[in-house]
Amino acid sequence: MPHLFDPLTLRTVTLRNRIAMPPMCQYSAHDGLANDWHLVHYGSRAAGGAGLIIVEATAVEARGRISPNDLGLWSDEQIAPLARVASFMRQYGAVPAIQLGHAGRKAGTARPWDGGHPLDDDAGGWAIVGPSALPFDEGYRTPAALSLEEIAAIQQAFVQSTLRADAAGFEMVEVHGAHGYLIHSFHSPLSNQREDRYGGSFENRIRFTLETVAAMRAVWPEDKPLAVRLSCTDWVEGGWTLEESVALAQQLKPLGVDLIDCSSGGGSPLARIPAGPSYQVPLAEAVRRGADIPAAAVGLITQAMQADEIVRNGRADIVLVGRELLRNPYWPQRAALDLHKPSQAPVPSQYLRAF
Ligand code: FNR
Repeated sequence: MPHLFDPLTLRTVTLRNRIAMPPMCQYSAHDGLANDWHLVHYGSRAAGGAGLIIVEATAVEARGRISPNDLGLWSDEQIAPLARVASFMRQYGAVPAIQLGHAGRKAGTARPWDGGHPLDDDAGGWAIVGPSALPFDEGYRTPAALSLEEIAAIQQAFVQSTLRADAAGFEMVEVHGAHGYLIHSFHSPLSNQREDRYGGSFENRIRFTLETVAAMRAVWPEDKPLAVRLSCTDWVEGGWTLEESVALAQQLKPLGVDLIDCSSGGGSPLARIPAGPSYQVPLAEAVRRGADIPAAAVGLITQAMQADEIVRNGRADIVLVGRELLRNPYWPQRAALDLHKPSQAPVPSQYLRAF
């Protein structure tokens, strides 16, 4: 029996199936505001049957955008256009979630199709910040090391954006703690060489995350789930490890975190990533077992049988399908046919005559 179409309840929110769209930047906003592209893009995946849709990395302050065209929730005027997107997704059966993040030392870069390189001030870039004054790579700007006051201000920005995500009608927030952006850069000794309470020991390197998540949880409604995406390993000798991710997840659970979204890498250009089908599933498995917390698996999951096996064998609770959902928004409906469960296909009434 396939289990990909089993519902899942986190707090009071029920996902119609285990298929989710992970956050994927569209680099298509102006002044951080969502527009028709976001409505059609996210709306299509809701009509296509995903149980959960996590809106792309949304910046908690303008300085924390990956590119000038990222979405933002640093001001109240950014709520209404995102509320329209969230409402549409919900109307068509998908749980609307949003990833809140700060790009840290990887902020201020061109869109991928414009080359993805760090932008100078005169090309629309800006001064960047990080735990320590260490650039991500050659050709990148050197971030200013954050002062304690600036750390507190960014934590407040996460809290304010969390309140705005609630006001916009999102039912889950995901904290972006992956891919070398600000939170992950505090975790990794490769990017965090602070000598104060935010650097050095494991306890110090995870302090920014624990404090930020606790402050967000305090304002995020009790009945709505909160997720954290982690880069579970740097894939670099001397970097952040899977064992540390499990230990961090153990500390996040009692803070009221409901799901760990298990990604990896992005923190170092030296990473050697063993990419291949389902390659990050063992990370989710380790976190799920080691911290006894629901986990999501992501990375090169493209086939219905492959996705179902992950859920059926208890390797992860949710399967995130990224680029495959960019290629085919109706992948969840196709997956139901491939698993010989046409009656479980998540189809909007308007399309029922095709099934
Ligand atoms: C991404 N990814 C990503 N991750 C994240 O945490 N926040 C984000 O905003 C983005 N943005 C983004 C944009 C695009 C165009 C791609 C392709 C990817 C990573 C993404 O969520 C996912 O982890 C990877 O794509 C791996 O999954 P797939 O695509 O192999 O299923």
